[in-house]
Amino acid sequence: MLEVWAVDVSAEIASMAGHVGRLTADEVRRAASFYRDEDRHRFVVARSTRRVLLARQLGVDPATLVFEEGRHGKPRLRADGGPVPSFNSSHSGRWVLHAIGDVDVGVDVERIRCDFARLDDFLWILSPEERAVASAAAEPMRAAILATIWVRKEAYVKALGEGLSRSLPDIAIAADAAGPALAYDRNPGKRATRWRFVDLEIDESHKACLVHTGPHREIAVRAWCSR
Ligand SMILES: CC(C)(COP(=O)(O)OP(=O)(O)OC[C@H]1O[C@@H](n2cnc3c(N)ncnc32)[C@H](O)[C@@H]1OP(=O)(O)O)[C@@H](O)C(=O)NCCC(=O)NCCS
Repeated sequence: MLEVWAVDVSAEIASMAGHVGRLTADEVRRAASFYRDEDRHRFVVARSTRRVLLARQLGVDPATLVFEEGRHGKPRLRADGGPVPSFNSSHSGRWVLHAIGDVDVGVDVERIRCDFARLDDFLWILSPEERAVASAAAEPMRAAILATIWVRKEAYVKALGEGLSRSLPDIAIAADAAGPALAYDRNPGKRATRWRFVDLEIDESHKACLVHTGPHREIAVRAWCSR
């Protein structure tokens, strides 16, 4: 089992009280600390829908789920005996994505912003090969190319659970007709795991990628609906 859920945060504004009602006291405090409504809404909807989807998967009451974090902050479910699903979440622009499965997963979504075309801002993440591809691209295409590189890379380091503690220029993701794949990861502590990269179709102003272990799967993006 491996699925991706897309939650349109703008469609959840009317259901915000219900979403807040599912949060822990800690999450309510964290939500209150966001300065911008937009950031608070994304956080609340992400935490609420993550709880509901995982509880549905396990066939339990959402309120009974207990989350913990790995060394670099990757959230996971506390396993009290039986197996629990793996999951990963990402939020940007109007979207929250949740990947849920029985294998290691990482997911990332980014809204394509016009300042993404500024190559200099991305030098800290790009491998030499990716820098060459991005600098050869004309401006209108460059923002989308950089966003694509960014989500593939972030989804990979999130699947590993190491996030930005891993040096991004030492990682290269290449893409050909067969799709994206890890070309190399020169960071210490490499794993023998084969990582699968799946570019996800969300909408024309966002790029998203899922990275997972295990055999190739066709991934359908499912839409969350509160009503
Ligand atoms: C994980 C990370 C890449 C997220 O980047 P982002 O683009 O800002 O945020 P996204 O919306 O894509 O993802 C955020 C979600 O990722 C998940 N997450 C957090 N840490 C994670 C990790 N180490 N691995 C995988 N997922 C992680 C959480 O669910 C988080 O949601 P929350 O904000 O509701 O808690 C980044 O925060 C990170 O690297 N964290 C690890 C901390 C660390 O080691 N920092 C090094 C300092 S340079």
